[in-house]
Amino acid sequence: MIIATSKTIRLEAKNALLLLSLNGDDVPRVAYFGSKEKEKAFSFHKDSSPTVFSCFGSLNYQNCSFGYIDEKGNFAHRFLLKSVETKKVKISLPRLPSCKGEREVLELTYLDLEDKAEVVQFLSLYEEHDTFVSSFAFRNRSKETLFIDRAFSLQLELPGKGYDVISFHGDWGRERKINSTTLRQGELVLSTTCGISSAHVNPFFLLRKNKRYYAFNLLYSGNHKESVSVSPLGSTRILTGVNDDYFSYSLKPGGIFYTPEAIFTCGDSINEVKTHLNSFVNQHILKRKKSPLVFNTWEAVSTKLEKKNWQELAVMASKIGCDTFVFDDGWYAHREDDKTSLGDFYLNKEKLGGDFDYIRSYLANLNLKLGLWIEPEMANPYSDLARSHPDFLLKTKGIQPLLKRNQYVLDMSNPKVVAYLKKTLSSLIEESGCSYIKWDFNRFVSDVCSGFASGYAFFYEFTLGYYDLISYLSERFPDVYFEGCSSGGARFDLGSLSYVSQIWTSDNTDPYDRLFNQESTGLCYPLSSISNHISESPNQQTGRKFPIKERTNVALFGDFGIEMDLRKAVDEELSYIQKAFAFYAKHRRVILDGKNLLLNSPFAKDLKGEICLLNDEAVCLLASLDNHSGHLCLAGLEEKTTYELKELGSDTPFRASGEELMSKGVFIEGKGKLNTAVYYLKAIPSA
Ligand code: GLA
Repeated sequence: MIIATSKTIRLEAKNALLLLSLNGDDVPRVAYFGSKEKEKAFSFHKDSSPTVFSCFGSLNYQNCSFGYIDEKGNFAHRFLLKSVETKKVKISLPRLPSCKGEREVLELTYLDLEDKAEVVQFLSLYEEHDTFVSSFAFRNRSKETLFIDRAFSLQLELPGKGYDVISFHGDWGRERKINSTTLRQGELVLSTTCGISSAHVNPFFLLRKNKRYYAFNLLYSGNHKESVSVSPLGSTRILTGVNDDYFSYSLKPGGIFYTPEAIFTCGDSINEVKTHLNSFVNQHILKRKKSPLVFNTWEAVSTKLEKKNWQELAVMASKIGCDTFVFDDGWYAHREDDKTSLGDFYLNKEKLGGDFDYIRSYLANLNLKLGLWIEPEMANPYSDLARSHPDFLLKTKGIQPLLKRNQYVLDMSNPKVVAYLKKTLSSLIEESGCSYIKWDFNRFVSDVCSGFASGYAFFYEFTLGYYDLISYLSERFPDVYFEGCSSGGARFDLGSLSYVSQIWTSDNTDPYDRLFNQESTGLCYPLSSISNHISESPNQQTGRKFPIKERTNVALFGDFGIEMDLRKAVDEELSYIQKAFAFYAKHRRVILDGKNLLLNSPFAKDLKGEICLLNDEAVCLLASLDNHSGHLCLAGLEEKTTYELKELGSDTPFRASGEELMSKGVFIEGKGKLNTAVYYLKAIPSA
């Protein structure tokens, strides 16, 4: 509910409250953000300016959320509040993803004193999920071109300093490693300039102080920046949005620039903010569809998709309970390694032994549907695409573009490139009759001199080109299930999740490492978006060996699938895998739709666990690391209820009360590097 008076605006969610104070035509200030129950006006230094929007040009010298330069070079501007409106609407931002469903929106309109720029701030509210959304639209009211040089999506101010900033860093194979830094002075910047949201730092981050958590994320897949800074007067400012490094946008008279949407929430525990974010993303961002049970060919055979290989694997995949068979990299043109054919997504019939009709009917006889891997925004130099359309590649005139993984990046800021991809990929989906697409992006962007988007507008336009393509295809083919991927999880963000149903979390499928990765990813992104597969042992990325139970149990917590070479599995392994697929098929609603809580701190390195709860059922994972034995207390159960617990792979259930399970816990024995157990819990109706 939004209640606006002449002095305050209250944005009241179920438990959380954002309170703004008004003073005439000044920009509104943050008066409180936290739980409704503990409402107590923030106390800021009298000379501080804890506003929700700012531009360089006042007597306040903190980081600003917005800036523009006019044709005379003036970059100091002063904005005044012109109007306050509230509405109940669905918001659909032009060319950008936006949170779905109707919401209450506060529209704050600011005008600069020169009357050149109008800024509309949209602050909205999803009451049920205690989640707030902020974005801006900047309109050029003048007769000259204005050059926007920063345009963040959210500005928020919290009182005091010394907040822990919890962020998610990494690289290939070690995405979203959790890190905490206490900020007492200066500025902490999380940002990327590699063209995609990246594995280097995720746009999701948290602030923590006195057991209170504040969480932020962005619906954006391009260069982003999150800044947390302590003012000399001792308060903490948060900015998040499009990275203002290598960014400038020239706005013609009448033109409007839209920022992506930023979401934010708060809570008294990590599980509380996780619950808000998971449920919000599930209901208002994700394209939720029934997730298929996938066999993916990558780890099993790499690009060696010859008829014998894929047919043997398909027979095994069907036996263990998969319903979709995904041809990963290697099914098209002359692709035998990563040096050729990216861009030429037509079937290599000789290699695979038949056309799409043949492949589909072979799979259909095994009750399998067809899935295909593509990497549409790239081309190898040795490809028909690069040869016939050199103008489609990102490059500086006269200079050979840089190769990475033997591939060039296409200029997604050029509508001609996007139109070409819309046409060719639509034909591919129609001709193949596939029901699943894995959409990859395997290198960062370089040679950003686009023939189309000018100068520093490039990165923003490049990202919008990706959205144009993926939104078109996902709308045109509503029955096709899209999985995102980017060298593993380098484009794991809410922008991508607005169009795909799940994202491949990491190329690192080592279950020990995956426990950490999936846990930190799951703090914001729900299990229904986290794609996991049972993989090979020794693990192809780390070389470590793990039993089938550990590889399977960890993969079960998310969108479950498999990519190991089943032909090498022994009977005992096949039997565990088969049981796990049957278990998942039966209980996936609990895992994917249930409330997912952590059973230990995400910083814990000895025991890890999580539980998914739906009505009177639950599924939990317990893990002991590096020989640590101990009890993990379950969470979210009814104290007075008796539960029956059955471990996956065992036939002997046992019973315990919710109270006992939550206070004494369940024992997990330390056994080597990793020992895991998955339990299914069901409440026993009282007599
Ligand atoms: C990326 C993906 C892998 C696989 C390969 C294929 O690395 O993350 O899962 O699809 O590309 O080239």
